[in-house]
This record gives sequence, C-alpha cells and structure tokens, in this order.
Amino acid sequence: MRVLVLTGAGVSAESGIPTFRGKDGYWRNLDPTKLATPEAFARDPQLVWDWYRERRERIRNARPNAAHEAIARLARATDEFLLVTQNVDDLHARAGIPAERMVRIHGDIFVTRCSRCDFSYAGRGGSPEPPGACAVQPTYGRLRSIAATFEKDADLPRCPECHALARPGVVWFGEQLSRNELERVEDFLDGGACDVVIVAGTTATFGYIIDWALRASQDGAGLIEVNPEETPLSRFATRLVREPAAIALPRIVDELAN
Ligand code: APR
Repeated sequence: MRVLVLTGAGVSAESGIPTFRGKDGYWRNLDPTKLATPEAFARDPQLVWDWYRERRERIRNARPNAAHEAIARLARATDEFLLVTQNVDDLHARAGIPAERMVRIHGDIFVTRCSRCDFSYAGRGGSPEPPGACAVQPTYGRLRSIAATFEKDADLPRCPECHALARPGVVWFGEQLSRNELERVEDFLDGGACDVVIVAGTTATFGYIIDWALRASQDGAGLIEVNPEETPLSRFATRLVREPAAIALPRIVDELAN
C-alpha cells in the first residue's frame, strides 16, 4: 500500500496542546503577527521567546495520544508511507514515526537556530533524552554550555558562532518552507498515486496542504478527512469522519492494516 498522511494541530489537541484556529485556539486570544512572524521577533524577541518557551514546556508535559500512535502503527504496516505534519511539536516522533518517514513542514519547536548564520541546535525535545545533535559538532563541554544557554529561561539565546540572536526552528508566517522538506514531499508524490490519503486535524488553511492531498489522491485513491468540522478539503473527500482523531484514527488504521 502507498499512503500519505497529512496532519495539523487537531491531532495534538487531545494531548492538551491548543490548536490555532479551533475553540480556545492560540490565534483566538493571541495575535499571530505579534508572535509568529520575523517582524514580531525583530520588534520584541523576548515576547516571542517567552511564548515559545511556554509552548515547549507544555509539549514536554504532554504525551502522544492514540491518534499519534495509530499513525505510527500505519507507518510500520505500510511499504510506502509519508507523514507530512504541520505540527512543530514532537509528538509524532515520540509515538515512533521514524524521521525518514516524516516531513515536519513547519519546523521543530525544540530546534534553536541562529537568526543569521546556519548554526542550529536540536535541543532536548519533549522527552528527557540527552541533548540532540547539532549542525556544528562542538565538544561535549561546549554542548553542555550551549544546552545550558538555550535551556535557561531568562535570557535571549545567542548564536555561539556569530552571536546573533537565536530563534525557534519553526517556519513563521511570511517565511519560505524548507526547500529540502519540499523536495521530500515532491519526491514522494512523484513516486506515484497513493492508495489512501488521510488528512487529520487541520483547517487546511495553506494551499500546499490542499494541493498535496488532491495530487496524492488524484487517481481515485481514498481521501479520508478526520475532523469534527468542515474544511476546504471536505468536498473532495471520499470519506468524512467527523470525530476526534484519537477516536477515529485507531479504528481507521485497524481497517487499513487488516
Ligand atoms: N481531532 C481532529 N481534529 C480536530 C480535533 C480533534 N480532537 N480538535 C480540533 N480539530 C480540528 C479543528 O476542527 C480544526 O479544523 O483541527 C483543526 C485545527 O486547525 P488549526 O488550528 O488551523 O491548525 P492547523 O490546520 O494545523 O494550522 C496550520 O497554521 O497557525 C499556523 O503554523 C501554524 O501549523 C499551523 C498552521
């Protein structure tokens, strides 16, 4: 089987991570132009860092839910599989999706990268394993000092290489998607039509999400939408599942895997 799965914030909602545009979503109370744009960061980096640190802590205290686990199970049971997630949390990874089968199209909240040079530090992530790999391989002592710098809650982290301000490794509004990640999606789509496309927990706000879902399902593949609410993709779906993802996805994966 050849399967493409596209996910959004709704898949992490049942792990206690707020969505953006749903009820109690971040963007209901907070202004994205004040928090998730390069201009906002230039204007008030402390405000932006405070918000991302709050989100990092919330994700650290969260656990993958049955939706994340079901998608990981489907990945293991499927020959050709790709998960494209808009989520910057690491719950898909912690549920066991291998990096080579996942594209994090909006980046990784635990990565800290330089706002000027290409230094980046993968951070500790949500689960308490030791510090991750850095793009620039410093000595362990240096790694500890970098980790300490980036994990300290007060200061504005600075790049250990060029001393410019460091920022969270996410894609902000108005920024380009990573060329490398885009190529990985295109390579998968060029690999032929899918048998099943699952779109779960997203308002499909961005055109590329709709484009990828339709291209992957163009030859009559099943396009399954899992979302309690209607989205711009609903009218193209061959199956609408208006249920929470942690309820619906384990059942759908059972059906597909058997
Ligand atoms: N199960 C399934 N879907 C759910 C659940 C749930 N338990 N709870 C909410 N949803 C649905 C909502 O109905 C909504 O359609 O998830 C969707 C969440 O939509 P958004 O908040 O817009 O999140 P997302 O689509 O991921 O946003 C895309 O926008 O703000 C940027 O970069 C940010 O990656 C994000 C992108």
